Amino acid sequence: MARRSSEQKRVFVTRPIAEAALRRLANDARVDMWDDEMPPPHDHLLAQLKHSDGVLSMVSDRFDAATIAAAPRLAVISNLAVGVDNVDLAAATRAGIPVGHTPGVLTETTADLAFALLMASARRVAEGDRFVRAHRWRAWTPRLMLGRDVWGATLGIIGWGAIGQAMARRGAAFGMRVLYVSHDHRSPDSKRMAKRRPATDANGQSIAAPNAERADLERLLAESDFVSLHVPLTPETRHLIGAHELAAMKPGAILINTARGPVVDQAALTIALSSGRLGGAGLDVTEVEPIDPADAILKLPNVVITPHIGSATHATRLRMAEIAVDNLLEVFAGRLPRFCANPAVKLRAS
Ligand code: DGY
Repeated sequence: MARRSSEQKRVFVTRPIAEAALRRLANDARVDMWDDEMPPPHDHLLAQLKHSDGVLSMVSDRFDAATIAAAPRLAVISNLAVGVDNVDLAAATRAGIPVGHTPGVLTETTADLAFALLMASARRVAEGDRFVRAHRWRAWTPRLMLGRDVWGATLGIIGWGAIGQAMARRGAAFGMRVLYVSHDHRSPDSKRMAKRRPATDANGQSIAAPNAERADLERLLAESDFVSLHVPLTPETRHLIGAHELAAMKPGAILINTARGPVVDQAALTIALSSGRLGGAGLDVTEVEPIDPADAILKLPNVVITPHIGSATHATRLRMAEIAVDNLLEVFAGRLPRFCANPAVKLRAS
């Protein structure tokens, strides 16, 4: 799709987004949209970036230093996501390009999916569905598909940002004991933003999620029946959960990951699951996306995998698209995006 006016800024939208947000963008800019659910080939992205003033991008579009260097006019990268690990933030900042993202609006939606994966793994929902469809349900028997109780169990949350805290509230509402590790390996910029969040009281109890108790990683892994990951992907959090951490988890515990695949060493996770050391895993993200159909983890019955759909509800994707458009238009008006992942950037002269 191309909507034209010679005076307007040019924006490349890398996938179809909510129509209402797209229409608003097209009122103020010339929009070229990649009209396919599959990502544009990187060469096509590079060709578009040669003449684009802005790009509305997805987590699966790669903006490394070479890509950014090949975009001489680019004034803004606006990611339809809260995570920005697909963008080399330092290279964007050096080039004077602010990187917009969409925090806040997807918090509860993503925590819903994390909790859905927890419930599905604990109570073998996907496995039970496959069992019935395979015509293997012959009788009610006392030992059929036994799972784990969620109520009364301990939920360990790694990453105490907005989504981690929303997950904690869900756990507490289900009668779980909640432990958390804040694991604050963020950039100075995001630490500044985090200061606005509610913190803990003098006893280490969270104000945002009453009854959640701060712990160190070792204790959290040893005591939690469910461990849920809510950290951004950074060099420090890559393989944060590896063979050592998996071995430190409670035998039979379940790992939930709705953050980023590379936070977990997936090969080590596959071993821990197939040996029976871990009870299961609920994954919305995998180390390589989409996952290789030959990946051994797909053969394991005690793993539930969804295709990176944490924020995928109609309402939330619309709100994300609205914010992504706002972030772009703010820069065209000469200001930083309202939600900027690199707020120290000095805007490139247009
Ligand atoms: C995000 O927002 O970072 C998600 O992973 C994509 O919805």
